[in-house]
Amino acid sequence: MPPYAADTILAQGSGQEHDATGAIVPPIHLATTFLRSPEDEPSGGWSYSRYGYPGLEQPETTLKTLEGAAGCRLFSSGMSAMTAVIMALRPGDHCVFPIDMYHGLKTWLKAHSSHWNVRIDHVDMTDPDKVHATMIPGVTRLVWLETPSNPHWHIYDIAGLAEIAHRAGARTRRRQHCGDANTHPTHKVGRRHRRSFSHQIPERTQRCPGWCGADGSR
Ligand SMILES: Cc1ncc(COP(=O)(O)O)c(C=O)c1O
Repeated sequence: MPPYAADTILAQGSGQEHDATGAIVPPIHLATTFLRSPEDEPSGGWSYSRYGYPGLEQPETTLKTLEGAAGCRLFSSGMSAMTAVIMALRPGDHCVFPIDMYHGLKTWLKAHSSHWNVRIDHVDMTDPDKVHATMIPGVTRLVWLETPSNPHWHIYDIAGLAEIAHRAGARTRRRQHCGDANTHPTHKVGRRHRRSFSHQIPERTQRCPGWCGADGSR
């Protein structure tokens, strides 16, 4: 798609074709499994809704385009999106998280990161020197930024921290300004936090193909 303005991308919804009925909003597909040929191949390209279903295609493509990302995957909640990023890590990996961060994820990390032998450090990210001092080159795989932070509204230097991360061979969770992946609370931004609709991860470089969906890698 050419580099349209964000407003145009949103208004056009990736310019996808209407379905056969001409409905102007995409239909909701309730099927769990899809028709297969006698050779057991998915007849319409869709197999099982856990791996992907037609209703996700348009929003994932639209969000991927808005981000200029290599891929995007929608999740049913923020926790599922965030833990998917962390579960793409390997045993022995080291990650740097902020001290001030969403309490639900902080609690989850405390309870579960040791199960995967993933080492976590929490750092004051308003001080790039502290982040730099915590990096273990070649072992630190992820620097996780939440900015403005919850609950203290700290603002971090995304580009500066991304540079520190990249120098040590790690990737960052905030995609804009040189980060690698980003999670968006689309259910909150789009629906004012009232209903859990989705959480999405557009990823710039597709280095986590397991959770990057919009290009077909489910
Ligand atoms: C900063 C932040 N991240 C993540 C979440 C988790 O999102 P969800 O409730 O969709 O799992 C929240 C929830 O309030 C949040 O405030």
